[in-house]
Amino acid sequence: MTDLAKSLSALPRAELAHLPTPIERLERLTARVGGPSIIVKRDDCTGLGMGGNKVRKLEFLLADAIATGADTVVSGGVTQSNHIRQTAAACAKVGLGCHLAVMDGRVPKVDADYYETGNIFLDGLFGANLEPIAWGADRNALLPGIADRLTREGKKPYIVPYGGSNVLGTMGYVQFVVELLQQLNDAGLSIDAIVHASGSAGTQAGILAGVTALAPDLPVIGIDIDAEPERVHADVTRLYHDTCDYLDITDRLPPERIEVVAGYAGDGYGLITDGMAEAVDLAGRLEGLLLDPVYSGKGFAGLIGLIRAGRFKPANRVLFLHTGGTPALFAYRSAFAKPA
Ligand SMILES: Cc1ncc(COP(=O)(O)O)c(C=O)c1O
Repeated sequence: MTDLAKSLSALPRAELAHLPTPIERLERLTARVGGPSIIVKRDDCTGLGMGGNKVRKLEFLLADAIATGADTVVSGGVTQSNHIRQTAAACAKVGLGCHLAVMDGRVPKVDADYYETGNIFLDGLFGANLEPIAWGADRNALLPGIADRLTREGKKPYIVPYGGSNVLGTMGYVQFVVELLQQLNDAGLSIDAIVHASGSAGTQAGILAGVTALAPDLPVIGIDIDAEPERVHADVTRLYHDTCDYLDITDRLPPERIEVVAGYAGDGYGLITDGMAEAVDLAGRLEGLLLDPVYSGKGFAGLIGLIRAGRFKPANRVLFLHTGGTPALFAYRSAFAKPA
């Protein structure tokens, strides 16, 4: 076992995810797009509550909540947040109460499906207490405010940050690197880059920290899905260094290796783009693979864009990390309506 794997295994961890998630070759998509071989790691298949990348983070966060004697989790996100759906499912599984701030109004031009189906529909099935709030409220004060109220009511709340993106949640994606390298080794495969959608920074920061320790030459390319590439880059950089500090990883990657690619989010978070629609369509029709409109669809559009721009050699093999999000397809179904 590497030192890193030892440090990780010393941390308390709730067993929530179906791991290891599969890796698959996307042969028909590779042939259509041209260029490097594309393989996908299916973190949309982490299992719990329809899966996704937050389940890995929640394994560490909810173990900490339990260790500190909490009885209730507080977190938040937008109406179609995958993070709050997975948090609600994880709390149901381990028997913690769950209070979620559901912020409405970040995404303009949505229809009734946005409020009735997809993630928000599932949140209710997992028994979470949903607290609606308008987007634009002070996000930093919101969760502590709910936690204070719950404390006054006699509860012991534990705050899971937005996106599960603090150092502890990020351990889920450090652990991901240990898992992936073992899996590639077992399959006799090597890869030349990892590409994925990046938002609240925990996924990319964790992968970068894991790669720093175990595969320092492997590029990790985050695709900005928030239409805020500078903010995402700054958050990834800060969380990467905090995570390395926590794990005593002293040799760090140079700043240029923290790569957040702009240009694939369109006009804003959650808004549809032609590139996303093309990616969702190609993955569905050529591979039977569901991407989502807000994250993995834009992430994959970024990968297609990088391939078309000549970023990779034809002999390369690129791993797309599918971070989940497919329930949101139902909330956005009008965006995919085919002409009669
Ligand atoms: C499906 C999906 N992909 C990617 C991300 C981005 O991950 P991170 O917030 O760790 O950057 C999210 C975050 O909500 C997500 O739900």
